[in-house]
Amino acid sequence: MNADLVQRLTSPAGVEALLLADRQSDPSSLAAAAALRAAFPPELASAALSQTELRRRAQTKFGPSAAGMLFTRDGLEQATRPAVAGHHASRLVAAGAKRVVDFGCGIGADAMAFAAAGLDLVAVERDPATAAIARHNLTSAGTAVGSVEVVVGDAEELAAALLTPGTAVFCDPARRTANRRLWRVQDFTPSWPFVLGLLDGTRSAGVKLGPALPHSFIPAGVHAEWVSHRSDTIEVCLWSGTDDPPDSRAAMLLPGHRLLVRQTPPALEVSDLRRYLYEPDGAVIRAGAIGVLGRLLDASLVDAQIAYLTGDRLLATPYAEPFEIVDRLPYNEKVLRRWVSTADIGTLEIKKRGIDVDPAELRKRLRPRGSQAATLVITRTPHGAQVLVVRRAALPAEPR
Ligand SMILES: C[S@@+](CC[C@H](N)C(=O)[O-])C[C@H]1O[C@@H](n2cnc3c(N)ncnc32)[C@H](O)[C@@H]1O
Repeated sequence: MNADLVQRLTSPAGVEALLLADRQSDPSSLAAAAALRAAFPPELASAALSQTELRRRAQTKFGPSAAGMLFTRDGLEQATRPAVAGHHASRLVAAGAKRVVDFGCGIGADAMAFAAAGLDLVAVERDPATAAIARHNLTSAGTAVGSVEVVVGDAEELAAALLTPGTAVFCDPARRTANRRLWRVQDFTPSWPFVLGLLDGTRSAGVKLGPALPHSFIPAGVHAEWVSHRSDTIEVCLWSGTDDPPDSRAAMLLPGHRLLVRQTPPALEVSDLRRYLYEPDGAVIRAGAIGVLGRLLDASLVDAQIAYLTGDRLLATPYAEPFEIVDRLPYNEKVLRRWVSTADIGTLEIKKRGIDVDPAELRKRLRPRGSQAATLVITRTPHGAQVLVVRRAALPAEPR
């Protein structure tokens, strides 16, 4: 889609086309295409149908607001979830920001949260169609409090002019390659050196990156916060010019649980398995906050390299899921198959850490055909690989 077509979609004819597209039960069907083409030019008809598909898909992320927004396929995928964008905005507000430049705003999910939080906003996007979409999303939401400007251009060329003293900055760089497994700073755009420059401490700055960011890439003096939302660990955001202790790390479980790790996290001992096993949230693990959590739970590690904690007491925590260990088995498929059969297991959940096995494949080989449900945890322990039969512990975790 080009910027012209975005304009046409927001014109009265475009709005009519979108209304008709929304009445189609399957916007990808031939019948829907025929209905739209009977009333509108082919380009507009097809753009309205694609938008309708994207809006329906976007409901998972944006809820009812998706119905009034415009998207590109990539833009929707890359857009920050509203709850997380709201968290970014509240951090900038807490840092005293009044004006923010969002470099690489995409379809505007973060930008919408900044504008709704009362910040004056300049949103920069180099792709003209995506910028036109961000402009639509920002203006049609009607939630902006301060001034809103969307600029089409290259962040790296515009930075010197836009970053006036006192202006905060946010950047959620795109990846040039589709390879999600390989974490390469060379793939970022705006470029990694540019992104690092934003974090030089001369202003309040937030940079959103994937949660797999190796700690060695975090610049000195910066605070790194890994964020989980609805049990997904979705990002790490690097912050500078905020009130966070320099070089600290945190696990943020939205909406409101935050575990802070200062420079040297406490070391935990490894112990034999105790009554309870705690499975920490992904943000806690990524942030290196296991030691802090272990202290809170009076728990130790099951292995120096494995992110399971074990303790004698069942304590409520939002940072980990607690299990009671009800049995221990050797890591031996024959023994496990016999156990599954004897215990009449039909629904089998398998978790594993530090053991090279595919749980889905193992489940098939164990042939669970019975009437009972069970959870197995395969992990390294001080006594080698073991399989723990566990059940979710009764004490509910604090609400997230
Ligand atoms: C990950 S997306 C941003 C998503 C956005 N935070 C949101 O929540 O909707 C990154 C965006 O940066 C844009 N971009 C990449 N390099 C840029 C550059 N040098 N200048 C301006 N925009 C850029 C891309 O076109 C893409 O739309």
